[in-house]
Amino acid sequence: MSVTVLVGSQWGDEGKGKIIDVLTREVDVVVRYQGGSNAGHTVEIGAQRYVLHLIPSGILHEGKQCVIGNGVVVDPVALLKEIDELTERGMPTEGRLHISDRAHIVFPYHKALDESRERLRAKDSKIGTTKRGIGPTYGDKAARTGLRMADLLDPHFGTLLDERLVEKNRILTALGAEPVDASEVQRAYAQAGERLAPYITDTVSLLNRAVNDGKSVLFEGAQGTMLDIDFGTFPYVTSSNATAGGACTGTGIAPHRIDRVIGVVKAYTTRVGEGPFPTELADETGALLGREGREFGATTGRPRRCGWFDAVVARFSAMLNGIDEWAITKLDVLDSLETIRICTAYECGGKRCETIPANIRTLEQCTPVYEDFEGWQCSTKEVSRFEDLPPRARAYVDRLCELTGVPVGILSVGPRRDSTLRVRAEA
Ligand code: IMP
Repeated sequence: MSVTVLVGSQWGDEGKGKIIDVLTREVDVVVRYQGGSNAGHTVEIGAQRYVLHLIPSGILHEGKQCVIGNGVVVDPVALLKEIDELTERGMPTEGRLHISDRAHIVFPYHKALDESRERLRAKDSKIGTTKRGIGPTYGDKAARTGLRMADLLDPHFGTLLDERLVEKNRILTALGAEPVDASEVQRAYAQAGERLAPYITDTVSLLNRAVNDGKSVLFEGAQGTMLDIDFGTFPYVTSSNATAGGACTGTGIAPHRIDRVIGVVKAYTTRVGEGPFPTELADETGALLGREGREFGATTGRPRRCGWFDAVVARFSAMLNGIDEWAITKLDVLDSLETIRICTAYECGGKRCETIPANIRTLEQCTPVYEDFEGWQCSTKEVSRFEDLPPRARAYVDRLCELTGVPVGILSVGPRRDSTLRVRAEA
């Protein structure tokens, strides 16, 4: 394995954390390339459960190097909390965690703006953000008023921050929100700068050196393709490029250095926050998927909306990301169902639609065209070889691959590390 990008291929929460954790054993370096503490990667190791928001989950493996790339927006206070928690649980990060000096910084005013803008949006146009300040921070990056980790180490940081604080507090006041406490922000960020200094570095050179030296590198995407700022269900998206292309712009690794792309999909679909979701199930089956799959947001704790597998979404994702193989997660959640459905296309205004329309109002009007499968109605949780899956479960996976034109490489049938089947390796 050399340079691999792993992307979420639905609306996030596909179970990437677990797949990354399994693949990390085979790599030297794990890299985050976009998003911020809106992400939540859950990993279960024995009886221990870890939820990481900013630090790549590779940190849970001794000796692996972890990088937070320039495309990530970093909340230094949240990051230090994660560093401290890991240290307390016997996993020190110094010397193994490297933060890009070009990564943009999330400030408390970004979070306050995120909240205010959500509050002021009309009821039916709320995005349902995680309120972690993601949109406003990327907004400042695009507007060229953001501050980066390199600035945090600059002797003029206090002055640079002061200028922003004055402007942002005026905006917050105009929006009817409380201004942030400028001296408290200055104090907390100066302190965070001191503590984070040993981690902040030129990760572009570090990563390119690693690739040139033949090291195996895994880029872990956060969120998912349908939340990508360019290709997702805009405006119900996050503010970064969650697709594979983001791995290049978010780290400084050139496109031709990437060897393969793994797309993670759940065997059904979930979504948190607002926005269209054609295969959503607002019935008992949806509730069952939520219960069996423990579908609660890792960052906000919100219940996830659940629905059938959407092959239109997965095909779109395969095309955009150049997916070489699927990692299919949570197949076991479907174990008890009598009938399982896959959406193969949409119907919109009397026409068949095979891809995702750009117009959000058109997408809202799309109704799924389904293909039905008989459920296997037995447990797959203990299955350890793809060949040993119940024939109906295998037929479901085969059809999913056929409809999306991508083979399965990894199949997950439970939250534990050992409930992960490597399909191709065994075939
Ligand atoms: P933001 O990224 O906090 O601005 O939120 C924008 C949208 O992306 C909202 O619908 C969030 O629920 C969704 N979102 C952000 N991060 C994640 C994630 O890690 N998993 C799933 N949904 C996410």
